[in-house]
Amino acid sequence: MQKKILEFDVVVLGSGAAGLSAALKLAEKGLSVAVVTKRDIFDTNTRYAQGGVASVTDKDDSFDAHVKDTLTAGDHLCKADVVRRIVEAGPAAIRSLEKYGLHFTKRGEIGEEKNASGYDLGKEGGHSARRVLHSGDITGEEIEKTLVGACRRQPRIEIFENHVAVDIITSAKLGWMGEDFALGSYVLDAKSREVRTFVSAATVVACGGAGKAYLYSSNPDVASGDGIAMCYRAHVPILNMEFFQFHPTILHHPKEKSFLISEALRGEGARLLVRGADGRLREFMENYHHLGALAPRDIVARAIDNELKRSGQESAFLDITGKSRDFLRRRFPGIFAKLMSLGIDMSKEPIPVVPAAHYCCGGAQTDYAGRTSIRGLYVAGESACTGLHGANRLASNSLLEALVVAKFAAEHISANFKGLRGERPSGRIPLWRSGNATNSDELVVVSHNWEEIRKFMWDYVGIFRTNKRLERAKNRIKNIRKEIEKYYWDFHLTRDLVELRNLSSVAEIIVDSSLGRKESRGLHYNADYPDRDPDMDGVDSVIKKPYRS
Ligand code: SIN
Repeated sequence: MQKKILEFDVVVLGSGAAGLSAALKLAEKGLSVAVVTKRDIFDTNTRYAQGGVASVTDKDDSFDAHVKDTLTAGDHLCKADVVRRIVEAGPAAIRSLEKYGLHFTKRGEIGEEKNASGYDLGKEGGHSARRVLHSGDITGEEIEKTLVGACRRQPRIEIFENHVAVDIITSAKLGWMGEDFALGSYVLDAKSREVRTFVSAATVVACGGAGKAYLYSSNPDVASGDGIAMCYRAHVPILNMEFFQFHPTILHHPKEKSFLISEALRGEGARLLVRGADGRLREFMENYHHLGALAPRDIVARAIDNELKRSGQESAFLDITGKSRDFLRRRFPGIFAKLMSLGIDMSKEPIPVVPAAHYCCGGAQTDYAGRTSIRGLYVAGESACTGLHGANRLASNSLLEALVVAKFAAEHISANFKGLRGERPSGRIPLWRSGNATNSDELVVVSHNWEEIRKFMWDYVGIFRTNKRLERAKNRIKNIRKEIEKYYWDFHLTRDLVELRNLSSVAEIIVDSSLGRKESRGLHYNADYPDRDPDMDGVDSVIKKPYRS
């Protein structure tokens, strides 16, 4: 018989860079930790990150420059104090990864500068210096492998795979009086289909982003906005969800819908091209920004979108044929191999690319240490909105944020653990109740709703928005949400149903946040308000679930 109630000092929901880093730091402080992850532990967004970790390590670079680039990309919406804290904590986060065994590529390993020393630093859009540490172009996979290995060696960490977090248990939701505390979480064991109660003095939500709200995305299927939706249901304010980042260069190929072609290619000189009416490929980014193909991501993605609409072409192209085959194979082993498997030799021909949903800059409101409005509830990584990214994330700042905020959160939890445990209200936490649930024989509804959401989000809430499009999306999502909520309480929980409910909730928050912002800024472009409103500098959008609903 499986235990229905489990107790740990801390429960971490999610197994990407943020979740596993937090788990390790907490365990190293002597706390018992559960890592709850809804599929295989490797099944995370982190694993697909290619570019790397932005951090100042070069003598010609500076914290001031990294802060400035982050603020510029964020378009007057970043929190400057948070930016500085996170940027300055970067080098320690790099050392910590190396301590766990991660190897970052060094100069001299790539082939062109055989005797050079130090890190081989990549360059990406919006960065004024080479500062992206990488492990070839499979940095995320290497980070994930390293952290999983370290967690598996750590006796204070227990890993629960195929366990889907359903909801955070808070004292306010149970109707208990006094300060609102996080008491644990309800978690669905996807195999036994039982909902188990995880009781903990602190909960760290690190469930990643919500790219699957869009038809075309670089994200894997797990990116269904679980952390953000759970925080919303726990009444944590959700900030800035209109700022959804579209990566400019996802491979356009009938057999591969979400394969990223790293911005690091442009850092190594790749040119962005579009086919003109005469059939010739030509560059176009100089017409949009003085940094050309290395302009901030929002500008490049919108420029490609505009060029494709104008020319009627299906894709743009990235041309890196100026580099040798040997260099490309060493610097971009993952991309090179993937393209070769599809019959594209990047050393000889341009790569077809299109923009696609990539990163959610908004999320649950936290401070730099992942603290939320609920005592004992912390959020780190893509589920959080710390204020680092503002209206547009600077490339490769996401892994940096995930690692640093996870560490700060773990430090805060362990330093305040006595209070978290001792001051929380005591009482019996009820077991999960699923009403009159029966087994669903209409699973097709789940997949149809999922598809419908992703289509209208792409059509109406994408790179180019208008009031009319957003209103259309609002009507659609309202009806779908009603249907899903009814379905949710009438049928036994499955992982698909939990994900669909979360995804639809996050889609609705994105639509509402977009409707609420009556200006264009960073990643949010509404043709009915094409300009930035200076009065809105530093003003976040806030969506909060009312207590009585
Ligand atoms: C990339 O390699 O282009 C992605 C990096 C990022 O999203 O920060």
